Amino acid sequence: MKKVTVTTLYKRKKEGEKITAMTAYDFPFATLMDESGVDMILVGDSLGMVIQGGNSTLHVTMDEMIYHTRIVARACKRTMVVGDMPFMAYQASVEDAVKNAGRFLKETDASAVKLEGGASVCDVINKISSAGIPVQAHIGLTPQSVHQMGGFRVQRDEDRLMADALAVQEAGAFSVVLEGIPSHIAKSITAALSIPTIGIGAGPDCDGQILVMHDMLGINSGHVPKFVKKYTHLGDEARKGIKGFIDEVKGGEFPAPEHCYE
Ligand code: KIV
Repeated sequence: MKKVTVTTLYKRKKEGEKITAMTAYDFPFATLMDESGVDMILVGDSLGMVIQGGNSTLHVTMDEMIYHTRIVARACKRTMVVGDMPFMAYQASVEDAVKNAGRFLKETDASAVKLEGGASVCDVINKISSAGIPVQAHIGLTPQSVHQMGGFRVQRDEDRLMADALAVQEAGAFSVVLEGIPSHIAKSITAALSIPTIGIGAGPDCDGQILVMHDMLGINSGHVPKFVKKYTHLGDEARKGIKGFIDEVKGGEFPAPEHCYE
């Protein structure tokens, strides 16, 4: 089975074939995605919210990212795995950034890293990619800057977004995530770049799409953003199973003879 690589992604963009990406945080779901043919799994720092139950991604540590990336990558025979650099893994110094990016490739089987920011992080992108580590940039709504943005807000400054996209490409990023930006801006950026754009809340014209698995599989109850489509309702199914177990244990129906040893 041929692994998806940065070269595969460039080819997809050139040939106009869409790239599919999802987040994953554990072995069983990563196995399902790999078997189903998803091109890229991002082990996102969104795990601070969907796995750890926090209200932002800011508290996630490098060690937590390494742990989840290792178990996801173990499952992936074909799918490319990208490890997300958490808050403060690359902001304090370029040296820190290169060391932390290197941990994803040394301590897990991920083949790339992602980090948030545009022109302001180009020195970091340049140094990491010069060390032979493919870097995916992430511009627009960048959750690690939630306090600076005044909340999780759609970003609409077209000139700035275009400048950031061109800057990260120039700095050596192999791809860029466009999050929470109007569709027409994502379309112009995608047309202007030679590297693939992966959209989340950025309309249909990006080279690929990514969604957080807990949102699109309907695992979480409560609010999901407008750009999410729920493809199934695993949370409801799980609730049904858990309730069934409780009722049957209390009612004496489980375990039945077929579940017992002679
Ligand atoms: O952390 C994450 O899951 C992400 C995606 C939403 C792109 O950055």
